Amino acid sequence: MRVVAEPEIGMNVTTKPHLIEFQRIRDPRGALTPIEAEKDVPFPVRRIYFIYDVSDGAARAGHSHKALEQVLIAVSGSFHVHLDDGLTRQSFRLSRPNVGLYIPRMFWRDIDDFSGGAVCLALASDHYHESDYFRDYDAFLHAKGLR
Ligand code: TYD
Repeated sequence: MRVVAEPEIGMNVTTKPHLIEFQRIRDPRGALTPIEAEKDVPFPVRRIYFIYDVSDGAARAGHSHKALEQVLIAVSGSFHVHLDDGLTRQSFRLSRPNVGLYIPRMFWRDIDDFSGGAVCLALASDHYHESDYFRDYDAFLHAKGLR
């Protein structure tokens, strides 16, 4: 696991969003990217899901997780991920299948500007629990002590 963009030197990277560059094993047949839980991503992967067939102009996500950690990967095409901790907002364009965006708990995320044929693969630290979501931005801010 190689951290590509670590926002602040000396910060614990598992508490900050950051890009992770995975291996890309190339040979004449093409490329392969392996991802091993707790080695290439900093948590045990308990669930994967992927978003595809995205309608033109559609936005996904629009929520925060209370405890879940995730890594998002553009395994095909590209899209924007906007992250917001209640105070600052940062955006990433994901477009390489061997680069993942680590998202810690308690970050509001919006995903938009999908290219045609984009596929967003999500690696998640836990099973699906609707109770782990903030789907209301004000409730999210309130939980962070910012409202
Ligand atoms: P939603 O959280 O709105 O998707 P996104 O984050 O991509 O915008 O989820 C869409 C629907 O899928 C919603 O009914 C919940 C359901 N869902 C599951 O059943 N399991 C899952 O792992 C996920 C991520 C969503």
